[in-house]
Amino acid sequence: MESLVSVSGKQIRLFLTILMILVPRLPSAGSTPADIVQRFHDSEVERMNHLVVDKNTGRVYVGAVNRLYQLSPDLNPVVKVVTGPQGDSTVCSMIDCPRETQKKPVDNVNKALVIDYTTTRLISCGILFQGMCTVRNLHNISDVVQEVREAVVANNPTASTVAFIAPGPPNPPVSQVMYVGVTFTGNSPYRSEVPAVSSRSLDKDKMLNIAEAAVTTGTRMYVNSLSRERYPINYIYGFSSGGFSYFLTTQMKNTDTAIYISKLVRVCHDDEHYYSYSEIPINCTSDVKIYNLVQAAYVGKAGSVLAGDLGITAQDDVLFAVFAEGNVTSSDVPKPVSALCVYSLKAIRRKFMTNIQKCFTGEGQRGLEFISPSHKCISTVSNDQ
Ligand SMILES: *[C@@H]1O[C@H](CO)[C@@H](O)[C@H](O)[C@H]1NC(C)=O
Ligand SMILES: *[C@@H]1O[C@H](CO)[C@@H](O)[C@H](O)[C@H]1NC(C)=O
Ligand SMILES: *[C@@H]1O[C@H](CO)[C@@H](O)[C@H](O)[C@H]1NC(C)=O
Repeated sequence: MESLVSVSGKQIRLFLTILMILVPRLPSAGSTPADIVQRFHDSEVERMNHLVVDKNTGRVYVGAVNRLYQLSPDLNPVVKVVTGPQGDSTVCSMIDCPRETQKKPVDNVNKALVIDYTTTRLISCGILFQGMCTVRNLHNISDVVQEVREAVVANNPTASTVAFIAPGPPNPPVSQVMYVGVTFTGNSPYRSEVPAVSSRSLDKDKMLNIAEAAVTTGTRMYVNSLSRERYPINYIYGFSSGGFSYFLTTQMKNTDTAIYISKLVRVCHDDEHYYSYSEIPINCTSDVKIYNLVQAAYVGKAGSVLAGDLGITAQDDVLFAVFAEGNVTSSDVPKPVSALCVYSLKAIRRKFMTNIQKCFTGEGQRGLEFISPSHKCISTVSNDQ
């Protein structure tokens, strides 16, 4: 394994500090039985999609295709819930179907699995019924507390969805909302109403409704109807840090250039209108390669050694992200070549700040033409400054 410190790269050089090239491992180096202390397996289930662990009880929850599992901390199955297949059609809304609709049995692929610690509930969302969610009792997930007739997540097996709970309107950090990032799927007339990024309420009375909604603004962002078909945004990971919520995405560089890059999307927790919505590119590069496609990520604390290297404290947040090189630049398909990059959130905040300041001084384009066309940065700073 090779490890480089401080790699060049124009825009994000500032906070790209550690890069490790991950050598593809072949199955011969797989886990030996002695490494495995416990296992859970269900031969009926084709794929497991999400796993969350309750930080208070150690219980494990797994979202799979057509199944949800509640396991004990040592992975013994406690409750199994069957969620599909069920009769559905994408021409149906959350609530009803046009007459004469032919419903077919559709596998329910789990797209989001989130613990709401405030109410001790498990929120799970699947592709059926336009991406509907159910709210369940954490003590026994077969107890459905609420079925939410809202289109929240992607409604096909392949389109991405990322969901997490973090502070949000009306009164952060006391009030919490569910942040959701969803790839547009053009498979139904109802999808144009599903925001690309939104903050959704966790209040029982308006469960998973858009947290704050006015006529033209609110806690939601859409990709405009001209771009969304040919400009897919893949949501890879989401997290909250220092008063902001972030999504890591892969998307095309802009609406004219079919080159895929990775971008960080950010909104401020106390922004009821998403006026603070902004994006910056994030790259992971070595001398010879550009790893343009983020694949997976995690936000945690730096240990003391890493914190020292990054010039931050051990309590500061750091983003660990694995990137792959795209097969061809015009594709979001990764090659089996990858690298791990580590960024301090402090440096990421600084990068957002300088980009926003540059924009305020009239430099460049906002670069969000897929949201609302051609926004040139307009100087809001007086010239005699
Ligand atoms: C990121 O990668 C693109 C190619 O995908 C390259 O053109 C660009 O210069 C890189 N940006 C940074 C910040 O390194
Ligand atoms: C969970 O609830 C179901 C339905 O009420 C019940 O049959 C089952 O025994 C419960 N399981 C546990 C572990 O409490
Ligand atoms: C890369 O793309 C080409 C053309 O699209 C395809 O034929 C090839 O199988 C791809 N290679 C990998 C490793 O995915």
